[in-house]
Amino acid sequence: MIQKPRGTQDIYEQKSKQYNALEKTIIDVLKTYNLNEIRTPIFEAKELFVRSVGETSDVVSKEMYEFLDKKGREFVLRPEGTAPVVRSLIENKLYAQEYLPLKLYYVGPMFRYERPQTGRYRQFEQIGVELLGVDSVYQDLEIIGMLDSIVQALKISTQVELDINYLVTGEQRQIYIQALKKYLLTFNDLCADCTIRIQKNPLRALDCKIDAKKFNACPQMADYLTPSDQARMQMILSAAQKIGLKTNINQNLVRGLDYYTGLIFELKYLSKSLGSQSTIIAGGRYNDLVEDLNGPALPAIGFAMGVERLIWILEENQINLGHDDALDLYFIVINQQAMESTLELMRDLRNHGFKVELDFLNRSLKSNFKQAEKNHAKNIIVLGDKEIQTQTLIVKNQITNTQTEIAMTDLTKFMKAGQ
Ligand code: HAM
Repeated sequence: MIQKPRGTQDIYEQKSKQYNALEKTIIDVLKTYNLNEIRTPIFEAKELFVRSVGETSDVVSKEMYEFLDKKGREFVLRPEGTAPVVRSLIENKLYAQEYLPLKLYYVGPMFRYERPQTGRYRQFEQIGVELLGVDSVYQDLEIIGMLDSIVQALKISTQVELDINYLVTGEQRQIYIQALKKYLLTFNDLCADCTIRIQKNPLRALDCKIDAKKFNACPQMADYLTPSDQARMQMILSAAQKIGLKTNINQNLVRGLDYYTGLIFELKYLSKSLGSQSTIIAGGRYNDLVEDLNGPALPAIGFAMGVERLIWILEENQINLGHDDALDLYFIVINQQAMESTLELMRDLRNHGFKVELDFLNRSLKSNFKQAEKNHAKNIIVLGDKEIQTQTLIVKNQITNTQTEIAMTDLTKFMKAGQ
């Protein structure tokens, strides 16, 4: 038997309904913030991620699915969605004034060769948000507001907390990095990765799965922030607390991707059940990335959420997002001669937007009623000889437990009246 690759999933039946309900709930929220969808390819040039996410990041150095196409060009399955959005913005000149500010969202699979475990997959879905063209603390606050709107809509606002930090920007960044490097060089027992990171990208060491815990006494970023960055961070913190999001400053938060500048954040699930995979939404500002990829100087901020982790939380807390996927009408056809006319009736109902179903498997009456129940059918019609002869139907309303006899030709009219 051929099996699915490790770290991937087949999503069907109830789970696929949950994915749809979750995506719809979140997209509805994002639309209230006036965001539009962007779709980018699932594979991109490897160089895009090397130059944005960073050569020394785990994502690029260890986790990408890489391949050569038939002409020997290096491609990867996208490990994340921010760099592709920036690539698309530059390639399609979406930085022209008429498009700004760009407020985008995307939904789709990402790929990382990680060790699979609860909440960690090799193919996983992200819903991402990227706002480009504005550098304002008020937009930072809007992003925090968006996080809150999302967790409210998902009914998990009391189960999460937000970790924030502010990465040193501008000239102060180099000064901080030098201080950090000096501190890291005092250790002589660092892992092989960190030994390279000290030279190439010292900030990455703070994110090291092996060594990070040793760095409690490292130089604190907050001490290197400019007064205006400090004020901005304070404003974000108090706004988040005012909204009611449980928020902490985490000085050692650096994020696993290199493109961030200024505000960064991770929204975490408080329960221990997701273990080290408790970060469900993460992101921050990346004001230099567009320019680093040869576009114009264009500030930006964004975040992405892990759909599998959100689904896990909904399941664990038995949260039903309440999207109505019930059938409006289930037909049980006893006399096969009634099949054709039933299909006619169903076509008309469907053209009017009703969700209807009938059984093609010749199930017994009893198992057909079970099927109707499984599909949460609001109404059931049984079609036998009598109904064909009299051209009448009995509509059994499963919610009110009532029955109504109507002329066959009046079915759509009857259903519309009941809406
Ligand atoms: P990230 O932190 O690498 O950020 O991923 C965002 C979220 O995707 C994580 O918090 C997690 O919920 C989910 N995720 C990541 N890896 C996996 C995995 N292997 N299995 C399941 N879920 C996973 C980014 O990707 C940035 N592009 C976010 C961003 C957007 N920053 C600015 N704009």
